[in-house]
Amino acid sequence: MVNMIIQADVTRGKINKNIYGHFSEHLGRCIYEGIWVGEDSPIPNTDGMRNDVLAALKELQIPVLRWPGGCFADEYHWMDGIGPKENRPRMINTHWGGVVENNHFGTHEFFRLCELIGTEPYINGNLGSGTVHEMQQWVEYMTFDGESPMANLRRANGQDKPWKLTYFGVGNENWGCGGNMRPEYYADEYRRYATYVRNFGDNKIHKIACGASDSDYHWTETLMKQAAKYMDSLTLHYYTIPTGSWSDKGSATEFEAQEWFSTLKKTLFMEELLQKHSAIMDVYDPDKRVGLLVDEWGTWYNVEPGTNPGFLYQQNTLRDALVTGINLNLFHNHCDRVQMANIAQVVNVLQAVVLTEGEHMILTPTYHVFNMFKVHQDAQLLDVDFTNIDYTYGDEKIPQLSVSASVDANGKIHLSLCNLNHQESTEIQCQLPGTNKTSVIGTILSDTVLSVHNSFDEPEAIQPLAFNGVSLLDGLLSLTLPPASVIVLTLN
Ligand code: AHR
Repeated sequence: MVNMIIQADVTRGKINKNIYGHFSEHLGRCIYEGIWVGEDSPIPNTDGMRNDVLAALKELQIPVLRWPGGCFADEYHWMDGIGPKENRPRMINTHWGGVVENNHFGTHEFFRLCELIGTEPYINGNLGSGTVHEMQQWVEYMTFDGESPMANLRRANGQDKPWKLTYFGVGNENWGCGGNMRPEYYADEYRRYATYVRNFGDNKIHKIACGASDSDYHWTETLMKQAAKYMDSLTLHYYTIPTGSWSDKGSATEFEAQEWFSTLKKTLFMEELLQKHSAIMDVYDPDKRVGLLVDEWGTWYNVEPGTNPGFLYQQNTLRDALVTGINLNLFHNHCDRVQMANIAQVVNVLQAVVLTEGEHMILTPTYHVFNMFKVHQDAQLLDVDFTNIDYTYGDEKIPQLSVSASVDANGKIHLSLCNLNHQESTEIQCQLPGTNKTSVIGTILSDTVLSVHNSFDEPEAIQPLAFNGVSLLDGLLSLTLPPASVIVLTLN
């Protein structure tokens, strides 16, 4: 039995809704096929974007969407993606799969996508292979309302008024695919490029500097020391790789309990990363003005057999649901510093919420967890006080429970719980001082088969269900979490 206390009238800061962000790169079948099918496609679409995917993404209430990469961003020259489609250059996507990129999805199409699904754009600029001038012109093209060559070009391409653009990344993974730079060099380059990322009119850009990979604390330290005052946020990338080896990462669907355990253990490493990167940032930015944006996270497995290795297409099981729940709970609990997170990637790539095959679309377990957890967006974090129990496998152990709680603007309390243990249930009793809630409803995502997943043959093999194993009597919440489960409760 685990005893918890949620002090419901003491809040710990806002859970920025941008923690529920997503990422869409010109990679494999994410943009092309997954989102963009073209106006002439037999697949029902709106302005070239498939309606089934648009509806699924709209339902998720995605607050922010990152584009065009990833590694693609530092090879992307935005002028290739504007103007009449027949005139846009065809090129090879050298980073991802060596396929032809026809540039039919560009700046205008991306803003239209954001409008259709009700999300804010986050554009990642090209520092690695682009010029300062090119970056400056892109921002001017998108956001300037006056008389200028770029604003006039935008108008000539059919967009009279500038778009609203807040989030702009100045390079991506510049320690690797974005130019193999040293942090000292990138910090200077960041300062130079960011200088010309202008605010036009009342459009205020939130400038995002490329941050560290995993535990590269020296990168964070250097960037904070040399460039903190020129940035609004700094990023962090961390992927969950079950085996820990890039050459054989493990299968998305064929795994035993040991790999379930190691995947969740590696996911929990995010906690240490958030703590240590935040501690460095605290030294240079004690007021926490600069956000930590985990703008790439999620599972990364071997690609599905028979698919293009450069397309990073993978299936998604109950294990991914747990990875999602753990990470979102961690981001909530670190919401004093974590201001945004973007799972990689939204459709058909890595830990996707949606998979497509021709005209068909399925929702993954990851989708369902995002949908269940979205009640936390912009809610106030509450402390959950408890002593965790161990989940032991062989001679290793990790915490068995991942938990977070919040209170929303209507006073409803939301509690999200993951039971990481693949075979043992967990009983919980939770006191709720500071509130007088009398009703509770819940939703659960779980199964006895760890590798359960939705497929095009069986699209509803795993679905969220109403959770009835919970009671709230005289201020005491009692429930039993089944093994391998993700649950969200709402108390009113
Ligand atoms: O998400 C796939 C790739 O992972 C991105 O392009 C890159 O930024 C990261 O290495």
